[in-house]
Amino acid sequence: MSPFPSHRARRLRATPALRRLSRETLLDADHLIAPLLVKEGIDEPRPIASMPGHVQHTLDSLRAEAEQVARLGIPGIILFGIPDAKDATGSGADREDGIVQRALAKLRADFGEDVALIADVCLDEYTDHGHCGVIDDRGRIDNDATLLRYRSIAASQAAAGADIVAPSGMMDGQVAAIRAALDADGHVEVAIMSYAAKYASSFYEPFRDAAECAPQFGDRAGYQMDPPNVREALREVQSDIDEGTDIVMVKPALAYLDVIRMVRDAVTAPLAAYSVSGEYAMVKAAAVAGWLDEEKAMMEILTAIVRAGADIVLTYFAQDAARALARH
Ligand code: PBG
Repeated sequence: MSPFPSHRARRLRATPALRRLSRETLLDADHLIAPLLVKEGIDEPRPIASMPGHVQHTLDSLRAEAEQVARLGIPGIILFGIPDAKDATGSGADREDGIVQRALAKLRADFGEDVALIADVCLDEYTDHGHCGVIDDRGRIDNDATLLRYRSIAASQAAAGADIVAPSGMMDGQVAAIRAALDADGHVEVAIMSYAAKYASSFYEPFRDAAECAPQFGDRAGYQMDPPNVREALREVQSDIDEGTDIVMVKPALAYLDVIRMVRDAVTAPLAAYSVSGEYAMVKAAAVAGWLDEEKAMMEILTAIVRAGADIVLTYFAQDAARALARH
């Protein structure tokens, strides 16, 4: 007989089968969304240096990647467009023949209902100043003028075939404005996934290179949330729900697991978490240096995001994770 107390937590850790039996959180390809970037006016896909394995797609390479995504059992894609010309109001964002509109129409025609098509609604990729809104004559982001642009962008994306539009600009009232525009145009079935609690984060840096959308002056702290705040995230989430959002999102994910958990406990709406470009780049860079095991780190991070309470994870690892899940 053991002379020690009978606490025996290790019994259920003894074999892989016992560990599988007692696992509390399951990661599944069904809960992943793959972000993809498509660029206007290029003939070949262009690698993104800070995001190894990702490229700025042509319409053709986007189609091929979407086919992979569908084959891997990932149910959703979120699209970001990079126009060949930018201007003050981001007029490329809501053109009927804009790059995202063409991509949506093509993917919808080729894949039907096999993959949910999500379109990011924002201006920063399309404006010459790189901000997510329209600038007034005193150099400030004009909230309500920006909402008019978002309404038009979302309606054009819905018309092109989006299942879900995803406003990421953190303007006040963006969900209500977009819901009204969609309904007025007869797109009552198109859902909204709102970036409800989006923080002014340093982890977006690789994406700003990838999407060519770094602000040309100032920063985004005037509209994105201040990282130290957590109760404020609940107010943001609640107002998006009141305005009619269908899915709420917390972004970034890894440094905001407490926010994910708090939102999960407070509301019943589907909750997405966006594991952003910097989270991907950190793991890739450390793996290239041989400092950590890429697959294990990836799975640990994605599992942690689900464990914190996310129903849906947007991640640049979506394809790699789905492949790893299929192997195990
Ligand atoms: C803004 C937008 C950004 C990201 C998604 N939508 C950039 C930003 O807010 O600066 C970041 C995504 C990422 O880093 O993976 N349209």
